[in-house]
Amino acid sequence: MKIATILGTRPEIIKMAPIIDEISHRDINQIILHTGQHYDEEMSDNFFKDLDISTPDYNIHVGSGTHGKQTGLMMKGIEEVLLEEKPDIVLVQGDTNAVLAGALVASKLHIAIGHVEAGLRSFDMTMPEELNRRVADVCSTLYFVPTEESAVNLLAEGFSRKNLFITGNTVVDACFRHLKIAEKRGFEDESLKKLNINKMDNILTLTMHRAENVDDRARVSEIIGALRELDDMNIIFPIHPRTKNALEKFGLFDELNNLEHVHIIKPLGYLDFLLLTSLSTLILTDSGGLQEEAIILNIPALTLRYNTERPETVTAGGNILVGCDKKAIVGNALKIINDKGFADKMKNAVNPYGQGDSAKLTLDAIEKYYSRGLLNISAPENVMLSFSRKMTKIDEGISVEEFETKENALVHMVFDGERMIFPDDKLNLNGMMVYYDKRE
Ligand code: UD1
Ligand code: UDP
Repeated sequence: MKIATILGTRPEIIKMAPIIDEISHRDINQIILHTGQHYDEEMSDNFFKDLDISTPDYNIHVGSGTHGKQTGLMMKGIEEVLLEEKPDIVLVQGDTNAVLAGALVASKLHIAIGHVEAGLRSFDMTMPEELNRRVADVCSTLYFVPTEESAVNLLAEGFSRKNLFITGNTVVDACFRHLKIAEKRGFEDESLKKLNINKMDNILTLTMHRAENVDDRARVSEIIGALRELDDMNIIFPIHPRTKNALEKFGLFDELNNLEHVHIIKPLGYLDFLLLTSLSTLILTDSGGLQEEAIILNIPALTLRYNTERPETVTAGGNILVGCDKKAIVGNALKIINDKGFADKMKNAVNPYGQGDSAKLTLDAIEKYYSRGLLNISAPENVMLSFSRKMTKIDEGISVEEFETKENALVHMVFDGERMIFPDDKLNLNGMMVYYDKRE
């Protein structure tokens, strides 16, 4: 079997690293294709070193640009590589433009696609990421969903449960493995060493780069206003290049940089950043990955957004959405510092993203599908006989698997009276509403 992994930005490198590593330990050929969307050393190359994965076989160097231009260049480059390499499956991760381009190209070439971190939804179509992840899901063959909630999102959109695998998130694998290494090694970044982070208390680690925040002067000013008031905290801000450009354009960079309690530094490597996160009192972020890492590492998080495709972090109690509202940011941050009970409750929120075996579960599923010939995408040969979906209440002790055999059906969704639940094969359907269709 040959697997092509497509990646292009910092979070994709981090979250694909456990999968790349897992593939390299199995009898599988792999090629890694970098789109070149992130190209600065501190946004790309450093992560291959820190995460100990081999450098990409291809880099199509698309660089920065408008979404249309960037995605178009990626599609052209990815198509050339896939035509040459003919992989059995293409893996894409998350919701960046690389995911959109990779999924579109591979599906048009009838190559199977595995979407890692599928099924997330913010239900906010103004976010480029929401469009990317939805299109990638439409194109994909196998769905590696981090939680039951993400799986239910896909079921509600009509995807077959047979192709969904609840694997947890590979960020847990990356986090657990690399924090241990980072703790042993200590900080390597010169700015962090100078700041003597190990001796600091009240550390607030800040990251932001979301287009809807940093490209909007009013929002940035509101956030800076909040940071100004949080002068009891040591704010460490490894700044994303997009954010640095925006602050400079708005003439706000110096204003923020001149605050004594704010330390703007370059983007950090993964080991330094994980260690910094683990020593923080709180995280203030609009990052997707960092909302996850915060709950994994038991650090309270305030998210600079009005919605999130990671609602599990909020319902578990480890993350609060504060938007770009100065009052909400300052109020919640002060509560975390001053109210131990409040902070402890956030710290004790249970990580919903699995135990760190996500890459293994993902590869097990791919190998199973490959061995059964299910990665071959071909036109249907059987005439479709069933055109309707049905909903029925079950009044007998019967499992999903037994019901499907008896009715020659595929169960899509199960409603237990309160919520939609994922129809595992062994789930007892007694008393539940079932939404299903008859197979041909
Ligand atoms: C991209 C993803 C976003 C992801 C983020 C991770 C899309 C639509 N966006 O956003 O989902 O959360 O990566 O960080 O795919 N730049 C540099 N050097 C680099 C890369 C970028 O200077 O190595 C600057 C350029 O000015 C560029 C800007 O940052 O125009 C934005 O980069 P881009 O890759 O378009 O989007 P991100 O904001 O990084
Ligand atoms: N990260 C890092 N160095 C930094 C900032 C973030 O290594 O200076 C890591 C962080 O641990 C997380 C990932 O980058 O795993 C998140 O990337 P980003 O916020 O750029 O993208 P998103 O997750 O929002 O797509």
